[in-house]
Amino acid sequence: MKKKIKILVVDDEAIIRESLLDWLGDVGYQALTAENGFQALEIIEKEKPGVAIVDLVMPGMDGIELLKRAKEISPSIEVIIITAYGSIPTAIAAMKEGAYDYLEKPFCPEKAELLIDRLAEHQRLLEENISLHQRLEEHYQFENIIAKSPKMKQLIEVIKVVAKSNATALITGESGTGKELVARAIHSQSYRKDKPLVAVSCSALSESLLESELFGHEKGSFTGAYAQKKGKFEVANRGTLFLDEIGEMSANIQVHLLRVLEEKEFTRVGGNEPIKVDVRVISATNKDMKEAVATGQFREDLYYRLNVVTIELPPLRDRKDDIPLLADHFLKKFAVENQKEIAGFSPDATDFLLKYDWPGNVRELENAIERSIILAKKPLIEFPDLPRGKLIRAGSPQQVQTLKEVEKNHILDVLTRAHRNYSQAARILGVSRTTLYNKARALGLGVKNMDNN
Ligand SMILES: Nc1ncnc2c1ncn2[C@@H]1O[C@H](COP(=O)(O)OP(=O)(O)OP(=O)(O)O)[C@@H](O)[C@H]1O
Ligand SMILES: [Mg+2]
Repeated sequence: MKKKIKILVVDDEAIIRESLLDWLGDVGYQALTAENGFQALEIIEKEKPGVAIVDLVMPGMDGIELLKRAKEISPSIEVIIITAYGSIPTAIAAMKEGAYDYLEKPFCPEKAELLIDRLAEHQRLLEENISLHQRLEEHYQFENIIAKSPKMKQLIEVIKVVAKSNATALITGESGTGKELVARAIHSQSYRKDKPLVAVSCSALSESLLESELFGHEKGSFTGAYAQKKGKFEVANRGTLFLDEIGEMSANIQVHLLRVLEEKEFTRVGGNEPIKVDVRVISATNKDMKEAVATGQFREDLYYRLNVVTIELPPLRDRKDDIPLLADHFLKKFAVENQKEIAGFSPDATDFLLKYDWPGNVRELENAIERSIILAKKPLIEFPDLPRGKLIRAGSPQQVQTLKEVEKNHILDVLTRAHRNYSQAARILGVSRTTLYNKARALGLGVKNMDNN
């Protein structure tokens, strides 16, 4: 059966019932018949057909009366009225009463099939939309963390408890799983929320720069230290310090950090004065810290200090129930940002989103959707709008990209990564900003607001 929807045919003439029944069967629908309005209402109650094709003129109960009563029993039913050839005014009256459309006798099979197919699609979308909304309503949001999977809901319960405590927390998880998001949620729900949350990435700076970044320095303490500088520990006083990529921290800084955690005081680089601070430290890593401790890269005593509570974020592929909700969230966000009206994803696009493994986790999903919105030409995101290289890797249709497609996809990737900053993207691509701009425009990449960046 190619189409799942059930169709009820109501006509007092046996010949019309039989021929419609046969024809609907031939074009792939499951059809039922009734010879009058009363019988029809019984069937509607029991079988819940999605569509009824109803003769307008019948003895006992006419088509319009049946239409009204049918909608009372089954509000989602759609009714097509059968009218005599040329009786347009009655057909219009029926539509005013809520009929979906009308068919004139004698039937033109092509027109009838087109109408019924369109209606069946409409019913299917309606049903899907209802179930999508039901699915969306069951979701769970804590701060900006969206979750539906049991794993994430459980984690959110843990996060809520951690937020209310003052404990040092370590957040682990692959890249893009939402570690920073969780750190921010903990801070916003803690009693420190009105004080700053200061984030420092331990991998972005050289050892000596990181040291002065964290603890500050006194004037003249090293070449280039022209003035005294406060470190992030001082800036974050009474708030939270988020130490990202803690696994990259050098041995020397690990000693300093341990001291602050134990004694709640430190000295600036080149200084002697101990400075007291009250800072909650939340750290994050995508490294296996136990292994780092085992191999001596990371101090065990510091690890235990940082790791009073651990929050382990599972990779997205292990919580695929979160994908539809996250996808919908990003779709809405980027549709607004790009001023595009996009209602959702086509079935094959949805299928891909659910099947793909997302090695870059939520961030990769977010970027893929942002990109697809820039590309989308229709009100639905379709399969080809999603990153093509990935589609091929995911085992979907065997397609070899043309050179132009490769160029387009690459430009789009870099632009997305650069948050559509053309100057930055042009630098990465090794072309001038004007060249990039012209290329993007020629490739239909929706260039806008070029002058802003
Ligand atoms: N559960 C979620 N709900 C909504 N957005 C999410 C969720 N998880 C992650 N994101 C979004 O995904 C992106 C990546 O998240 P985040 O920066 O927190 O990841 P990360 O684990 O710190 O990554 P990295 O290890 O690469 O630094 C962000 O834009 C974030 O807002
Ligand atoms: Mg991060």
